[in-house]
Formats: sequence, structure tokens, C-alpha cells
Amino acid sequence: TRPLKVALLGCGVVGSEVARIMTTHADDLAARIGAPVELAGVAVRRPDRVREGIDKSLITTDATALVKRGDLDVVVEVIGGIEPARTLITTAFEHGASVVSANKALLAQDGAALHEAADEHDRDLYYEAAVAGAIPLIRPLRESLAGDKINRVMGIVNGTTNFILDKMDSTGAGYQEALDEATALGYAEADPTADVEGFDAAAKAAILAGIAFHTRVRLDDVYREGMSEVTAADFASAKEMGCTIKLLAICERAADGESVTARVHPAMIPLSHPLASVREAYNAVFVESDAAGQLMFYGPGAGGAPTASAVLGDLVAVCRNKLAGATGPGESAYTRLPVSPMGEV
Ligand code: HSE
Repeated sequence: TRPLKVALLGCGVVGSEVARIMTTHADDLAARIGAPVELAGVAVRRPDRVREGIDKSLITTDATALVKRGDLDVVVEVIGGIEPARTLITTAFEHGASVVSANKALLAQDGAALHEAADEHDRDLYYEAAVAGAIPLIRPLRESLAGDKINRVMGIVNGTTNFILDKMDSTGAGYQEALDEATALGYAEADPTADVEGFDAAAKAAILAGIAFHTRVRLDDVYREGMSEVTAADFASAKEMGCTIKLLAICERAADGESVTARVHPAMIPLSHPLASVREAYNAVFVESDAAGQLMFYGPGAGGAPTASAVLGDLVAVCRNKLAGATGPGESAYTRLPVSPMGEV
């Protein structure tokens, strides 16, 4: 069987782990897919920053030329951000490749258009790594629960803020002190705005709501309130009520079933709720559906190797589809439930 050719766009924390696992697990991957997978090129902005262990002859700074090669089976996009990722992904479809992406910002903004581009060219678009890192969530919602009716998806989808809130809860620290610790430990970015103001979680909520309710939800549809104003006093009051405080992404089908809402805000949850026990930088998503009842998905939501695990899982699935001459589930936007704007929560 001819090897399947894979191009990697981006070789940072996640991309270098993807390349490493593709090499170290090459035999297992080939066995699971039914054909070997070959890394055909790695596009980076700064070749001098690429970690040891990646074949230098594969590295290019011309990502556009790489995705236009025409002989690629899969393009793995782990650059992040809107452009150039969006143009590279659509170019990849136009030149015959399927795409695996970890790009939550792009999927939350332009997921519908990207799915249309994939469908137009009869290619796959998979993005398990875009939400909650290693936790299998997108494909379980899209595939395993496709025969059920999901009513609510509620979770902790940002590890940085969960770490900060957990510190505040367990040590009585104030917000700034807990944020400083998160920064020192490498959880929070130098500019933690996207995490603490809820933008990162809102992008993930948009993606989850779209998939869970078979409709189109964009980042702008998601009500968003960050957690930077939660105080030690709020935790003390929560504790008195037998609760803790978590930054939750909540995606719900309205009671009349005619619309959906998606929102991100700090919320008090009873200590008896499974989400209350999610500590440090872990993520967890609680799903409620008609037939299955309650499900909880838990695990590491960020980091190079955990995120690479999700990317590799998608890569295997997309390669299997390719060999079968098929594509996996596309956009599940068939009910088109309207998204209701949220008022103050
Ligand atoms: N900044 C994100 C988090 C990374 O803290 O969860 C994963 O998307």
C-alpha cells in the first residue's frame, strides 16, 4: 500500500509532539490505518526554532507551496489564529487534501464556511483537538451520540482559569495572587486576557453548541463574562452555601426545543456536582441527553502531548476514511435551530 502523505503546518508545542509521535509510533499507526503515514513536509515561520528530531529536509517556510503540492492526503494545521490558517486550509481542500485542525478560534468563527469547502471538495475536516485538548468530545458528540438527542453540554473548557479558581478555592488566595502562580507555572500566557475574560472558553462553547445541537453557532453568538472579578470573598460565600465557583461554558437547548443558547460565565456549583471536583488545570464536560442521561468527559485540556493525542486520533480517522474512499461526518447543521441572544445572567 502506498504511504499516505501528511503535511504539518506549525511545529510549536503541539506540532513537534505530533511529528514525534508520528515517528515513534509509525508502526502502530500504519497497523491501525492499514497503510504507512509519511510526513511529507513541515511548514514553520522560524526554522531556527524547530526542535531537534525533525528531519531538516522536510522543513519549509513556504506553507502555501506545501499545501499546493497536490499529492498530500492530509494537512494537519496547528498554527492557530485566523490567517494564514484559514487560507491554507481552504487551499489544502482545493488541492485534494483532508484537514485535521486544532484551531478553536478559526472553527468558532468560520467553521460553517470551512465545512462547506470540505464538502465541496469531498474531503474531511476534523478538529478534536480544538476543544478540551486530549478529551474525546467532538467525535463522541458527532458520532457516538448521533442517535441520541443532546439537551445540555456544560463544562470547564479552560484549564488556566480552572487552575486559578481552584487555587483561590483551596488556599483562599486572591485573583491576582492565583494568576501570578498560574503564570509562573506556565499555565497562563504573558497576556492572559483570552483565558481570564472567557474568550477562549466562548470559542469552545460555540464549537460544542454547533455540534451538539446540529446548528451553527459562532463566537459572537456566545454570551461571555470572564472570571477576573471573582474575589476571595465570593469563594467564602460560595463555601458557606456548600458550593464552589467554576468558569462554565453552558450550551443548552431551550425548553421549547426551538432555539439554543451558549454562554460562558463564572457559576456557583454545589460541591456534590461532578464538575466541582475538577481540580488544577483539568477540563471536564458534562453532557445531558434524552437516552444516555448524564455523561462526563474528563482529562487534560491543554499541553503539547495531550493535544497531539487528539490530533493523531483525527489523523488516523481521516486516513482510514481516505483508504475506504469515504468521508466522515461533515457539518451536522441540519436542524438550524436559531441561537437566542443571552441577556444578563
Ligand atoms: N489556554 C487554554 C487553556 C489552552 O488554558 O485551557 C487550551 O486551549
